[in-house]
Amino acid sequence: MEQTVRKQRILSGIQPSGTPTLGNYIGAMRNWKLLEDEYDCLYMIADLHAITVRQEPAKLRQQSIQLLALLLAIGLDPEKNVLFFQSHVPQHAQMNWLLNCYTYMGEMSRMTQFKDKSAKHADNINCGLFTYPVLMAGDILLYQANLVPVGVDQTQHLEICRDIAARVNGLYSGVFTIPEGYYPKVGARVMSLQEPTRKMSKSDADDSFISILDGPDTVRRKIRRAVTDSDGEIRFDPENKPGVSNLLSILSALTGETIDSLAESFADKGYGDLKSAVTDATIETLVPIQTSFNQYMADKAYLESVYRTGAERASRIAERTLAKLMKKIGFIAK
Ligand code: TYM
Repeated sequence: MEQTVRKQRILSGIQPSGTPTLGNYIGAMRNWKLLEDEYDCLYMIADLHAITVRQEPAKLRQQSIQLLALLLAIGLDPEKNVLFFQSHVPQHAQMNWLLNCYTYMGEMSRMTQFKDKSAKHADNINCGLFTYPVLMAGDILLYQANLVPVGVDQTQHLEICRDIAARVNGLYSGVFTIPEGYYPKVGARVMSLQEPTRKMSKSDADDSFISILDGPDTVRRKIRRAVTDSDGEIRFDPENKPGVSNLLSILSALTGETIDSLAESFADKGYGDLKSAVTDATIETLVPIQTSFNQYMADKAYLESVYRTGAERASRIAERTLAKLMKKIGFIAK
């Protein structure tokens, strides 16, 4: 008799705090598509996370729906993957409260993202910003995810998620699956085009990132202006040549050629040649995504059906874990 083996589960998310960048695409979203056949996948638009910094309501709504259209445009099949808005699944907020009571202030104050973001938004250091990693831990643990495909900037958050899960399991036994991170070999940290020692981020100045929705002229202009250095030599050396190394990484991620072979083939060429190769590869990647994005955006009824179904499917799974933990803690079952 044929035996059905349950696929391992994946959960990942992205914030609708701007249009995704080439960094989000290479570091995370592209992998989501690659994993959809082998795993049972849930991909979430992390809108609850986005309000840890102030968002304009109309813009948040627009960016959220655009993000859903983009997930479809990169090829994620909504039958195979559960695509949903975090705010549509109330178990995330409930789990957040429970896990807050199993997380220490000291752990949260060590988070580098909290330190960075509170320096950047000194007028709004809210409690949500502080406990953000707990919300994220709940996102993952609610679905008993085995694997979490993310860029390396999320490593610390994933570590704390594992710590919280182990702590809860230690107290109540067998509540959560302990998740592992899944990082791309190349492009796990795409750097800013203007300050190549910092990661490319959708909330930074416009010229420092390429948005997935940037048209060919914008892509050309931004890459032409990308910061390099003055020695004119093309080699991969992130410490001493962060700008050039970033361009080589992007090119490698987009073309599938290794960094070594690219460095070799560009060794006797100039920065202009490297930039134009990166420009061509970027445009070639983005144009089909943008065409498909526009088609999805023109069909709001379809988008609505995707996120409604997604929320129902996600909620069913999440409720099982939430109820299990609540029972173990000692709450009276409904
Ligand atoms: P967010 O929205 O900042 O980024 C989404 C994904 O993109 C990756 N990423 C990058 N990868 C390479 N280079 C870059 N420059 C770059 N910038 C971003 C991120 O690592 C991430 O994988 N907290 C998360 C969202 C989240 C989440 C979750 C993720 C909420 N709950 C549960 C996984 C599991 C965040 O802010 O991602």
